[in-house]
Amino acid sequence: MSMARTIREFERWRLEQDAKHKTLGFVPTMGYLHRGHLSLIQAAKAENDLVAVSIFVNPTQFGPGEDYERYPRDLQHDYEAAVAAGADVVFHPSAEEIYPSGASTMVEVTGKMTTKLCGASRPNHFRGVTTVVSILFNIIRPDRAYFGQKDAQQAVIIRKMVRDLHLPVQVTVCPIIRDEDGLALSSRNIFLTPQERAQARSLNRGLQKAMEYASSGVDGSRKVSILTKIIRAEIACQPLSAIDYVEILDAETLDELTEIAPDRDALAAVAVRFGSTRLIDSRILSAAPKGEPLLCTSI
Ligand code: PAF
Repeated sequence: MSMARTIREFERWRLEQDAKHKTLGFVPTMGYLHRGHLSLIQAAKAENDLVAVSIFVNPTQFGPGEDYERYPRDLQHDYEAAVAAGADVVFHPSAEEIYPSGASTMVEVTGKMTTKLCGASRPNHFRGVTTVVSILFNIIRPDRAYFGQKDAQQAVIIRKMVRDLHLPVQVTVCPIIRDEDGLALSSRNIFLTPQERAQARSLNRGLQKAMEYASSGVDGSRKVSILTKIIRAEIACQPLSAIDYVEILDAETLDELTEIAPDRDALAAVAVRFGSTRLIDSRILSAAPKGEPLLCTSI
């Protein structure tokens, strides 16, 4: 297992692997790895000869006043966890290595896809994500890259970027990993107080109720207005919650819907603040009962 802190060090490692004609899976992360990240590394290991994991808290995806400085970091733990999950190399560059002085090129998916949901309150967030992911793809040159469904909007946008730019990378999106109480795993969960954490379980409960109702077949069960009300009602009664959004959109395009179509998946997505911590969660809703996906999906 190797650690590369510079592009040159990674190149050296990568060239050796090229010579052996091995396939490379890539898991980009901002570190503070939890079981969600480890499931991505394991999925990458199952499909590739080698796995690279990047640990880089990307400054360009944080807005002014957001939590860039306080984003949790623990390199030693991350390195050990990545090795145990099957990573062959960890790329941990500095901000100067990724954005050298004078760098001013950004990669942006334009249009509503990036300005709704989290894009509405975090205006340049997705531009920062697509920029860093493109830079990392150029450095790592993976055959396949793995992202979590937890960041559902990010996954849709990255798939779009890869298609639009004809990038030679297969993108795989893997299911959300939840704690026993249903809370979706996130590096930011450590900021929740015990009371906030208990109330944060309402996100999963609301989404679960909407999912069950959507597939129940009863009159009105596919109506987006009713389904969003179900989710809101579950979350809004938690006194420490402040809802940023509850929306149900087409799962592939993020277009607005009034009804869930019988033959297309919809994405129910929520963002809720508990104190200074902003949590996101989502579920795929479909008119036919499916439950939460167990397998990763690739394009
Ligand atoms: O999902 C994340 O952790 C980040 O947005 C990513 C994809 C690593 C880019 O910084």
